[in-house]
Amino acid sequence: MQQIKTIAQMQELSKQWHFSGDKVAVVPTMGALHEGHLSLIRVAKKHAQKVIVTIFVNPTQFGEGEDLDAYPQPLKEDMRLCDLEGASAVFTPSAAEMYPKDSSTWVDEAQVGLGLCGAKRPGHFRGVTTIVTKLFLAVLPDYAIFGEKDFQQLAVIRRMVRDLNFPVTIIGAPLIREKDGLAMSSRNRYLNTEQRQGALSLSSSLKYACEKIDEDNQVLLKKLKAQMKEIIEGGQGKLDYIEILHAESLEELAILPDSGEIRILVAASFGPARLIDNVGITLG
Ligand code: PAF
Repeated sequence: MQQIKTIAQMQELSKQWHFSGDKVAVVPTMGALHEGHLSLIRVAKKHAQKVIVTIFVNPTQFGEGEDLDAYPQPLKEDMRLCDLEGASAVFTPSAAEMYPKDSSTWVDEAQVGLGLCGAKRPGHFRGVTTIVTKLFLAVLPDYAIFGEKDFQQLAVIRRMVRDLNFPVTIIGAPLIREKDGLAMSSRNRYLNTEQRQGALSLSSSLKYACEKIDEDNQVLLKKLKAQMKEIIEGGQGKLDYIEILHAESLEELAILPDSGEIRILVAASFGPARLIDNVGITLG
């Protein structure tokens, strides 16, 4: 498996692959890879002969006081895992390679990214859409795989790709959970035993909501959210948001529709780790 560090080399390799008739899929990551990321590589391999995993801790998507400096960077182990999964190459550019000193161009999606994490983390999605654009222009992929764990991020990227006519097919891959239900995240490694136990309240609150909706499709959403809040706070979570939304537009629902896809999203901090989780429900 090759390690590529510069944009020029990455573009050259991708062009060669395309020239030989191969499809190229990219799995953008910030490293600290876990089973969730590896599942994205497996999805990528179903779509393309060549799979590039990008590993870049993108400074522009971290706000002040967030965990940029503490973000884990076990590069050797990440590369070993990518190799084991059969990735064709990893792209590991430096910050200087991705952001020239006088870099002054941003890509900014101005609707889907406004609420939820966008409201709590101003500038976060501008950082994501900008780096994803740069990664696409370096890797020149046919397909890009993103996890549904970051559901809003996936929706923002889909909108950006549609609006800017990127010739890239975006594929959303299912969220992967630990055996006890905790959504896999690189940030789980910040949790001590007690916080990890408390963090299970995120998935429990979603399970509770699914059961209630299954029992009664006229359930009052305000009451349901209040019950979910109790569950999360019972796990000592500092709640950021609980939202019940239309799955595609991410518009808030006042009542449950008779049919269609909805998504329930939660975010809360447990000690040093801000965690997110979500679940999809098909109604009707
Ligand atoms: O989901 C992530 O790990 C990051 O937000 C991404 C898409 C790699 C951009 O830095």
